Amino acid sequence: MKSKKMLLPIEKVNPGMITAEVVFNKMGNVMLWDGVALDSITIERLKNVGVQEITVHVDEPREKGIRYDYSSPVVFAAEYEQDANLTKQMFQDISSGKRLDAETTEEIVDSVLRKSESNRNIIDSITQVRSIDEYTFYHSLNVSMLCMLIGKWLRLDEYHVRNLALAGLLHDIGKTRIPFEILNKPGKLTDEEFEEMKRHSEYGYNIVKNLDDISPEVAKAILTHHEKEDGSGYPMGLTGDKLNLYSKVITVADIFDAMTANRTYKSKDTPFKVFELMQHGSFGILDPIVLNAFLNNVTSYYIGANVLLNTGETGVVVFMNKQNLSRPVVQVGDRYIDTSVSKFVRIKEFL
Ligand SMILES: [Fe+2]
Ligand SMILES: [Fe+2]
Repeated sequence: MKSKKMLLPIEKVNPGMITAEVVFNKMGNVMLWDGVALDSITIERLKNVGVQEITVHVDEPREKGIRYDYSSPVVFAAEYEQDANLTKQMFQDISSGKRLDAETTEEIVDSVLRKSESNRNIIDSITQVRSIDEYTFYHSLNVSMLCMLIGKWLRLDEYHVRNLALAGLLHDIGKTRIPFEILNKPGKLTDEEFEEMKRHSEYGYNIVKNLDDISPEVAKAILTHHEKEDGSGYPMGLTGDKLNLYSKVITVADIFDAMTANRTYKSKDTPFKVFELMQHGSFGILDPIVLNAFLNNVTSYYIGANVLLNTGETGVVVFMNKQNLSRPVVQVGDRYIDTSVSKFVRIKEFL
């Protein structure tokens, strides 16, 4: 189904609609970029700042068979836990020597795809606290959801979005072949242990390569998900021109989830710190088109967030600087602090 652009009064805008043009506030600042999927909280915030009408895509194709309202955080959380349990089961089955069960992977991927319009719930759930031994299951599920979102933001068709969700889910399946003591070691790995850990890409590829339900492109993405654009990754040191799009998408999703994860042995970075590292510290490592699609969309979910500044003041994020995504404009009382200009003011914490 083709979509068309339409200017709608804000009262007629529904969750799931996608912005077709940039949305500005009264002061002429960008509130939302185009191509952003709206949810009920974002729509409320637009109303609160006095936005009267916005241009959205209408007649976007909808997923068939939506059974629940996934914009409800409670329903989302219940399904998320259920999917994490299925992912755990899948990992345990492979560890005990069983073949990868296509029905289980399909069930999880279907569930992930049904949440394709729950962007805010996805972004909220990936920063939950997880214990070390459960980490890989939640991480796999999170990367699957993030790969799906990036696929949508890149405007890929259903076939590729589905493959991306599957590739994300299975990208670390080779960790089932890594000894338990290495995988769950709380401290730093020795060089030898790290070399063994790095082999999970190949182990994963060997698990999936001959399965009928897994396309060769998905298998290849699992093998190459730790390769880097400049050839500095592993296992083969391939450069970006040799990597498929699935692999590039997994790499971005994988890094974001790993950096924002709140594991017991590692304190997490604030998302803004992660955006800074991804935007300014990943030249030559991440694919710029995939990275931009990800950052331009994901950062819009932090507009309206309450933050604590290093000055001790609290404020609300009101505007993202596109050139400097980690330094948004923060409203404190009736003042606007542009943290990209006020170099000493930093966001310390999310509230
Ligand atoms: Fe990995
Ligand atoms: Fe990973």
